[in-house]
Amino acid sequence: MAKKLFIKTHGCQMNEYDSNRMQDLLGISHGFETTDNEEEADLILLNTCSIREKAQEKVFHQLGRWKKLKDKNPNLKIGVGGCVASQEGDNIMKRAPQVDIVFGPQTIHRVPKLYENVAENKLESVDITFPKTEKFDHLPEQSSDGPTAFVSIMEGCNKYCSFCVVPHTRGNEISRPLDDILKEIEGLAEKGVKEVNLLGQNVNSYRDSKLKTKGLGLSNLIRSSSVIEGIERIQFTTSHPFEFGQDLIDIYQEVPQLISYVHLPVQSGSNDILKKMRRRHSRDEYFEIIDKLKSARSGISISSDFIVGFPGETEKDFLDTLDLVDYVGYDESFSFIYSPRPNTTAKDLEDDVPLEEKKVRLQELQHKLENSALSISRKMVGETRKCLVTNISKKNPGEFQARADNNKVVIFSCSDPSMIGEIIDIEIVEARNKSLRGVAI
Ligand code: SAH
Ligand code: F3S
Repeated sequence: MAKKLFIKTHGCQMNEYDSNRMQDLLGISHGFETTDNEEEADLILLNTCSIREKAQEKVFHQLGRWKKLKDKNPNLKIGVGGCVASQEGDNIMKRAPQVDIVFGPQTIHRVPKLYENVAENKLESVDITFPKTEKFDHLPEQSSDGPTAFVSIMEGCNKYCSFCVVPHTRGNEISRPLDDILKEIEGLAEKGVKEVNLLGQNVNSYRDSKLKTKGLGLSNLIRSSSVIEGIERIQFTTSHPFEFGQDLIDIYQEVPQLISYVHLPVQSGSNDILKKMRRRHSRDEYFEIIDKLKSARSGISISSDFIVGFPGETEKDFLDTLDLVDYVGYDESFSFIYSPRPNTTAKDLEDDVPLEEKKVRLQELQHKLENSALSISRKMVGETRKCLVTNISKKNPGEFQARADNNKVVIFSCSDPSMIGEIIDIEIVEARNKSLRGVAI
């Protein structure tokens, strides 16, 4: 009987991508079949996130629950990967001896070997090194699941924003060779993928080693991807306002497959805080990019991440953030209370903002962001938009989910599974909180 693999993924889209790749890999190397039931698993992998303290706490709670499974089934092996693993290394095993394997974001391709080691009682079961691009040379062709796919184009980050743990846990920026990425996208298109999401911590730092002109890596990659037969939509996550050059603005005019949506995190609207965060751009420079994007692609949706309650954030700084939100008119965005992280420079800054105040600010910001997203939805009511049908609704099998050309989720009645993967016209009839209702035309 095939061995069963259960994977739980915390955190960002890179982790989701890595988990899918491990699933492909262990299927090939050891014939593992994926299960949704942890009780029947022979191997459990936890792909962790350490971006905020709360995410990290979840890890040991989860491992505590799995200890009981191991008491029942001593043959069960447990592996921990991702950013908490990278940060803590074998400390994970000291605190949770039920863990057999520890691996980092750059060593997911070595999991089959680590698994063999523990199955054969060999010692080596921890590998959190950062081998250069080796990961991608050792991963099998990506299997596809539906009409959209993530394609990792670069890993890591060199920006060292003062609050952020990512450069410490995922290592320095490494870009994959352009030809490898295009080959992967071609393979996905042949399997019926219509939309690719070019993925990285900081995709506008993407560099093709063969490209002589510095700084044109991402726009060039988007252009090359757009001519691949079958690829009808392209998006990228996450970009950084620093290094968002004119070429990336122009590509919105040049490449119609690029959807009218960009996630461009600003974190704060205050120049003082942006400086303390080491974001390398000012509020006005951010506005300049936004203005250019809006004129390059009319109706473009913009989303962002925000941190409130950064050490020393004054009421005035916070008001600057609210004012920035009004100016940009964001679509659905993400906002968090600042969380001090190991190895970051901000963790040593004096934090004089009381937690209660931070919570009030977060609520006020979130309220504003929700209204902003809802007003974009309301403007769409009555319009007919091109939507990519992505899946059958989990809640109601008589309903399908699609995504409009600005990435908004649209729910519509449908009973024909062959519609999945089609780009169709949908009339938007109602704006709800997190989604739109529509009627297929
Ligand atoms: N590469 C992305 C960010 C990745 S982390 C970028 O450049 O924007 C995702 C989001 O988590 C960040 O945008 C930030 O808003 C939030 N975040 C990161 N570190 C945080 C911290 N220490 N406390 C609170 N939120 C944090
Ligand atoms: Fe983090 Fe800043 Fe890089 S938010 S991922 S250090 S761009």
